[in-house]
Amino acid sequence: MPSAMPAYITTPIYYVNDRPHIGHAYTTTVCDVWARAMRLRGEDVFFLTGTDEHGVKVEKSAAAKGVTPQALADENAAEFRRVLQVFGLSNDDFIRTTEPRHERQVQAFVKRLLDSGSVYLGTFEGWYDEGQEEYYTETKAKELDYKSPISGRPLARATEQNYYFRLSAFQERLERFFAENPGFVQPSARQNEVLGRLRDGLQDVPITRTNFTWGIPFPGDERHVIYVWIDALFNYVTALGLGEPGSELAKERAKYWPAQYHVIGKEILWFHAVIWPALLMALELPRPRRIHAHSFWIADGQKMSKSMGNFVDLPTIEGYFAKYGLDAWRWYMATQGPLQASDADFRAQHFHDTYTSELVNVVGNCPSRVTAMIGKYFEGRMPEDAQRGGEWPARCAQAADAWQRAIDELDLVAAANAPMALLRDVDAFINRTEPFKVAKDPARAGELASILAQCAEAVRIAGVMLEPFLPEKTAQLRAALGGGDAAMPFAKRTAWGGIAAGTALEKCALFPRVEAAKA
Ligand code: MSP
Repeated sequence: MPSAMPAYITTPIYYVNDRPHIGHAYTTTVCDVWARAMRLRGEDVFFLTGTDEHGVKVEKSAAAKGVTPQALADENAAEFRRVLQVFGLSNDDFIRTTEPRHERQVQAFVKRLLDSGSVYLGTFEGWYDEGQEEYYTETKAKELDYKSPISGRPLARATEQNYYFRLSAFQERLERFFAENPGFVQPSARQNEVLGRLRDGLQDVPITRTNFTWGIPFPGDERHVIYVWIDALFNYVTALGLGEPGSELAKERAKYWPAQYHVIGKEILWFHAVIWPALLMALELPRPRRIHAHSFWIADGQKMSKSMGNFVDLPTIEGYFAKYGLDAWRWYMATQGPLQASDADFRAQHFHDTYTSELVNVVGNCPSRVTAMIGKYFEGRMPEDAQRGGEWPARCAQAADAWQRAIDELDLVAAANAPMALLRDVDAFINRTEPFKVAKDPARAGELASILAQCAEAVRIAGVMLEPFLPEKTAQLRAALGGGDAAMPFAKRTAWGGIAAGTALEKCALFPRVEAAKA
């Protein structure tokens, strides 16, 4: 049964002055697995990604190339879109912050903030980190030794008149909000960081800029453009039409708010965990249910960086597709990635070993053994199981339960482990019952039929749970096991007895062995 509450999941929107790389691929894949899992459960899912196109960095990159910022944004947004297709990602919309629907609504939200007194005109004196487009007070700048904590470049002295968001007014409400929603930020280590910083006290934040023009004009004072981060955060609600209640967009999509998950990288947590909820409080809109801040991929033990040239970029990723296939890439992202509090190391050898030990030896080999024996002993027809599954129906139900609980918690490792453990149990069952020996004794034909029918059915059920991770290969597996209606809800699809006796089954080989990576 679809639950009454629709499921909305978002990625950060990506800067268009960058080329797609593993970081973008990772966050988007995590969201994609969750979105597919929720659809499999029959939920009403909306999965959003897109591009963040304003700001001084885009303006400068465009100038350096001798093109307009819009032309640069168009080109790179098209590239991000293309890449999502290559990755087979199932997002329901792709929002660009230069679209009129977004710009109009951001202006409407900012106007509301201004009218309600949450935004005011003030003067700032302090320090500016140009690369990050972030301002620091004297105290903070001193702490940083007047250098950018990100690029290490010197901070610039800045005096500016700007519009400010009255963040300080939300200190108490935010503290209460966090106390009442202990799981708001995941993993918990990240929530503790936010709470620590919150205790230092909140200061109002400038939300406009006057030193460049590539941004959304501030409503009523066009010398100012809206700060790119404020502009960007609103994408999560402009895509749903929340800034234009009554519009066609809102009629169709307003039901998806609040988001169940904003999935982000840990470096952009403060904006999402503190500024965003405060903005929503000021607008009297509901807060998202959860912010999941994952950690970083590093490469061969070192931080990935453009200057080091060790970024796992798109051509590198495409090399993995060519060698191991798209599903293998998804599997590595989802099961070996930095979803929790520690960074994950991307290594070619580790990728290869994971592929071989999990996909070739388990997900590939187990169905292959089972379908081969059914081919050999039962002419490729699903045998009749007089034992009606024996202990397997309960074992499968338990795996499906574990899978569902893991998906609720965005615990992709546990969700992948549920069907993997099931397949390993099938392998162990085959080793223990030795159907190849049973087959030699005609008197034990019934026993043989039960063993192999139970294996095939358990494999089918594991395959359902693997679908969000391995959409291509599980489609092949489904076809080999006689098809079945992929549109049925999860509970039906994981119920015992999906393959009728007599169904024609084909031998399947899902993951070919691949030669080891070169050191
Ligand atoms: N435009 C902002 C986000 C605005 S959201 C309202 C932004 N964009 S970004 O293009 O820099 O993308 C950042 C995201 O890419 C991170 O949050 C993270 O999801 C992902 N990653 C970038 N590098 C990464 C790794 N090395 N490892 C994993 N993910 C990282 O920030």
